[in-house]
Amino acid sequence: MPFNTEQLRREFPALHQEVNKRPLIYFDNAATTQKPKAVIERILQYYSRENSNIHRGAHFLSQQATEAYEEARNTVQMFINAAFNHEIIFTRGTTEAINLVAHSFFKKFVKKGDEIIISAMEHHSNIVPWQIACEDYGAILKVIPIDDDGVLDMEAYKKLLGPKARLVAVTHVSNSLGTINPVKEITRLAHENNTAVLIDGAQALSHIKVDVQDLDCDFYCFSGHKLYGPMGVGVLYGKEDWLNQMPPYQGGGEMIKEVTFEKTTFNELPFKFEAGTPNVGDVLGMEAAIKFISYLRIDEIAAHEQRLLDYAVKQLKTLDNIRFIGTAPEKTSVVSFIFNDIHPYDTGTILDKLGIAVRTGHHCAQPVMDHFGVPGTVRVSLAIYNTRSEIDQLIVALKQVREMFA
Ligand SMILES: Cc1ncc(COP(=O)(O)O)c(C=O)c1O
Repeated sequence: MPFNTEQLRREFPALHQEVNKRPLIYFDNAATTQKPKAVIERILQYYSRENSNIHRGAHFLSQQATEAYEEARNTVQMFINAAFNHEIIFTRGTTEAINLVAHSFFKKFVKKGDEIIISAMEHHSNIVPWQIACEDYGAILKVIPIDDDGVLDMEAYKKLLGPKARLVAVTHVSNSLGTINPVKEITRLAHENNTAVLIDGAQALSHIKVDVQDLDCDFYCFSGHKLYGPMGVGVLYGKEDWLNQMPPYQGGGEMIKEVTFEKTTFNELPFKFEAGTPNVGDVLGMEAAIKFISYLRIDEIAAHEQRLLDYAVKQLKTLDNIRFIGTAPEKTSVVSFIFNDIHPYDTGTILDKLGIAVRTGHHCAQPVMDHFGVPGTVRVSLAIYNTRSEIDQLIVALKQVREMFA
């Protein structure tokens, strides 16, 4: 049954405020989503009643916090259907998860002249860590091109999969274009070539049901704050076999078994990759977010957002001089556009004055902007709590922008 948006909106306190004396319309969900009460209250409860360091104390609070933290790991495991809970590593977010793999995978498996394949639609978080690692190890970064709809060139990809290709790192969903990539097929082709696959799922999990065993990817990364959870927490999923072979990313407490000045032995999975005191409160907040969207059901969320996306595109098409950036047939709820005669920054500034939050700029994907020959775009990214009425108000506001600047 489709969910009741009005009722749902009551769960999100941040939506009920005025910005520039107008009721807030929040269309910057690809940057970060707003948080439901269930998430805010879970974090409040942790710090009010449960706060304690985990895996260390014999006392009640510590044991309780440890159990809650490990239960959250089980929740994530079920959410993405990982085979084992120790394949779930808590990180600060997608960026840290990718950096972890770039560091540890390279150290063990990549040598001079080897190749890493990314795509032309990656977020800087899935470009720069590979560039740094390639430079350190003398490896070569190859890029899968995209076409003018923002679709990956799969024929070019197949040609890039040569004997030296060690790892493919691609986004599941593009943050600047909304394109959904065929990550299962990408993985299948890579595995035929004995190449590992990392999927950047930062923009996917709040819109698409993800089953890492079905995708068969070797690594999958995401951030809590883009799926209605808190900032500063995220996940690296990695197949047990890879994670066991990879050296630790950071040294410190928790990740060791025994330490002497002569030699240190490392803890087992997942603790080997979780050095130091973890972000327990936000892990629990992320767990609450996962339960929240699981309760709403991802397929219902996707259907709601698809209806909104279709409606938004139809309405935006009525405006003069508009150019859409990213018109792939398989898309999630991101609409990127520019007016040919108005700078995106000016559009964004006027919308903000009218209480409408959109993103303007390169969206941390400068190569995408270069491909389309634009300085940046205006990005409207939709979420579960957005409505048709908000889109109607956006269109009225954009007409005002056109009257002022065109
Ligand atoms: C596709 C994609 N990858 C990676 C990231 C980085 O996520 P975080 O900043 O949460 O680490 C983002 C954030 O916008 C993103 O959209």
